[in-house]
Amino acid sequence: MTLEEKVEHALKNIVLIGFMGCGKSAIGRRLAEKLNYPVYDTDSIIEEKEKRAIKEIFATDGEDYFRALETTTLEAFVNAGRKKEIISTGGGIVIREENIRLLQRLGFVVWLDAKPETVVERLSRNTDRPLLNTENPEETIRELSLNRRPLYESSSHLRLETDGLDFDEITTGIIESARYFFGTQ
Ligand code: S3P
Repeated sequence: MTLEEKVEHALKNIVLIGFMGCGKSAIGRRLAEKLNYPVYDTDSIIEEKEKRAIKEIFATDGEDYFRALETTTLEAFVNAGRKKEIISTGGGIVIREENIRLLQRLGFVVWLDAKPETVVERLSRNTDRPLLNTENPEETIRELSLNRRPLYESSSHLRLETDGLDFDEITTGIIESARYFFGTQ
């Protein structure tokens, strides 16, 4: 049996959390391909439902409104009770305590950890993140990521340092750990 097939037998969902620019969406797609699971992204679900971009939601209705949409999206996943899905999430999903409980009910929660320098490099030309629309985005990244570390820590079953690793190494690491996690549940 291949590693992917072994995981197939035991797996519920794999949920990816972590700071903006840590690679959740790309890794999510890669995992979905390898395991042949569907992949969802809470940001995309919210944009589709609201029929507008996240930066417009922030600009018009504010962050609290967006955070409530994140909770509703996670509740919908939990209520649907589906298995064998990859769910990648927005970087601030851990801010609400109720979301942490919802995340954990969904499956194996993986924190993709990246150094602020890596995030700065990846996001330097990106203007889609309203929270980084500040005078000094680098400083904002450092501050926000430091403040959120304990939240990612308490929300996740696994922390994976992604700096310097390629996508294949990261996805293999996640699949191996998921197999162990679901095998021992
Ligand atoms: C946010 C991260 C974004 C998006 C929104 C807020 C955050 O998602 O949900 O801009 O608070 O960290 P990504 O982590 O996919 O960039």
